[in-house]
Amino acid sequence: MTTQLSILGSTGSIGVSTLDVVQRHPQRYAVVALAAGRNIAKLAEQVRTFKPKLVSVLNQADIEKLQQLIPECHCTIVSGEAGAIQVATHPDADKVVSAMVGAAGLKPTYAAICTGKPVLLANKETLVMAGECMMAAAKEHHCTLLPIDSEHSAILQSMQGQPRDRITRIILTASGGPFRTRPQETFSKITREEALAHPNWNMGAKITIDSASMMNKGLEFIEAMWLFDLKPAQIDIVVHPQSIIHSMVEYCDGSVMAQLGMPDMRGPISYALAYPDRMASGITPMDFTKTSQLTFEAPDTKRFPCLRLARQAAEAGGTLPAVMNAANEIAVAAFLDNKIHFTKIADIVEETMKRHTTQRCGSIEDAVAADTWARETAKGLVA
Ligand SMILES: NC(=O)c1ccc[n+]([C@@H]2O[C@H](COP(=O)([O-])OP(=O)(O)OC[C@H]3O[C@@H](n4cnc5c(N)ncnc54)[C@H](OP(=O)(O)O)[C@@H]3O)[C@@H](O)[C@H]2O)c1
Repeated sequence: MTTQLSILGSTGSIGVSTLDVVQRHPQRYAVVALAAGRNIAKLAEQVRTFKPKLVSVLNQADIEKLQQLIPECHCTIVSGEAGAIQVATHPDADKVVSAMVGAAGLKPTYAAICTGKPVLLANKETLVMAGECMMAAAKEHHCTLLPIDSEHSAILQSMQGQPRDRITRIILTASGGPFRTRPQETFSKITREEALAHPNWNMGAKITIDSASMMNKGLEFIEAMWLFDLKPAQIDIVVHPQSIIHSMVEYCDGSVMAQLGMPDMRGPISYALAYPDRMASGITPMDFTKTSQLTFEAPDTKRFPCLRLARQAAEAGGTLPAVMNAANEIAVAAFLDNKIHFTKIADIVEETMKRHTTQRCGSIEDAVAADTWARETAKGLVA
């Protein structure tokens, strides 16, 4: 039977890689609904190829533009957050891929979880913002949340067939990003182009900057806590510049299970799509004779303060992770607009967190309120 997919963020890096995997298995997967932002040309191309019934764009004004590009297609076109929620909850979808970037994905992802269908989650910011509510909703609606993040996919794979209560530690690997060895005194001179040049992964702009500042690992730390029901003390981060070991799980007998593979998101995407089965993903197979070294280092929180801030947010809980995430989104956007230096990203996040009085985050509305407050505060700091 063909599995029908709804994809949020179809025009992004994860969305495009997901559609690449889908195209390799035409008997197994079809696309019923797509949600995108502003890339109307790419979306038109996807509509022509995958023929979804429903499509959502960010701006209402783009509906007509899209219609003009695809006169031969008769799909329904909607817009805005309400449109993305329609995609997330399409009645014909069997699974939902959540791959919008940032807090914009929160309500659509939450709506998808509440349908009880499996949600394949790339949009880690949503779990950082509102992990407690998302996990509670997943439990209540019997929704299986499967990670599309190489580290969390590796953890899930390393847990298969093992007793969960015998886990002693999760080891999240980090590439260290493009500035792992760059002298710290030159960090304020880092350009947008340098920060966008990740050594191992080809990703969207926001996550690429998060990888350069190592905030991405901080977000993943919090994501892992929620997905695998762990305490901060149970998660370690180790820098592994080759990005071949995607993460590890340590058990009480000292054994460590790891998952290895080439750094290509089609691996975790195909695992989440086929779970608990496996299927071809298009990834280049590993050639161990060409992988001369697998090295490991401790992360440096002095050079990369975002790691420290994320641990602080994880330990405090409540609204602080949502505040951290929102301040980071504003600071990253300002850096990408050449409005602030690279080092200001962490400064703005830290100052916004300092100004916040942490409260309980018991609902999506609490997370949205903390997010809104933090955006305004961080924008003031950027200005
Ligand atoms: N890329 C990776 O390798 C990777 C790995 C692990 C996890 N992730 C996570 O996956 C998520 C997506 O990352 P990405 O690299 O694919 O990002 P990306 O390339 O920037 O794509 C983001 C997608 O979200 C859409 N979008 C943005 N704002 C929107 C809005 N307000 N309403 C509707 N759609 C909106 C974009 O649409 P338009 O382009 O049409 O504007 C695009 O389709 C992020 O949370 C990231 O942390 C990514």
